[in-house]
Amino acid sequence: MNSIHLIKGDNAKAKVDAIVNAANPKLLGGGGVDGAIHRAAGSELLAACFAMEAINGRRCGYGDAKITCAGNLEARFVIHAVGPIYSKFAEPQKVLVSAYKRTLDLAIEHQCKTIALPAISFGVYGYPAREAATVALSVCSQPEYSELEMSFYLFDEEMLHIWQGILDSLGYE
Ligand code: APR
Repeated sequence: MNSIHLIKGDNAKAKVDAIVNAANPKLLGGGGVDGAIHRAAGSELLAACFAMEAINGRRCGYGDAKITCAGNLEARFVIHAVGPIYSKFAEPQKVLVSAYKRTLDLAIEHQCKTIALPAISFGVYGYPAREAATVALSVCSQPEYSELEMSFYLFDEEMLHIWQGILDSLGYE
């Protein structure tokens, strides 16, 4: 079994190697997790994002992720993951799987051992709760991520309950 933890709270406050942001393709901040991370990280993070190459204003595609420094956060890196807008994709699941895989692959490439993730796309981007949890936890359970300690930061008790149920159904204690 891989190392997956569920925590109630704000992932911008985590002390880990990489903090994951639920970003949009511009990578210049926003609301939700993105707002909390940029507020806590400060101007160094925004400058690092701004310095990345943009094509038509986009620095990251849907289903992709990019890595930067972490500014004032207690982490080495921020990994900016762009999940699907649920209603705008014919197959949002494929895009969400890809966003998580790109995120975890980047973490491994950069020798990260610990990572703090949010529920990507399960806010403004409208992904249904159970489906979002199933995708996230299934990707994180793949053998290639067995060396990573993955902590999901969830916002409330209801979410924790749903995610715990999916984790149990995947065979975790
Ligand atoms: N820490 C952990 N979880 C959080 C935090 C936080 N600080 N803030 C919000 N959440 C929860 C939300 O309740 C939701 O369950 O994280 C989940 C993801 O929500 P969003 O942040 O809205 O992310 P997403 O659905 O992927 O939408 C991305 O939102 O703000 C914009 O710039 C961002 O345009 C992008 C879009």
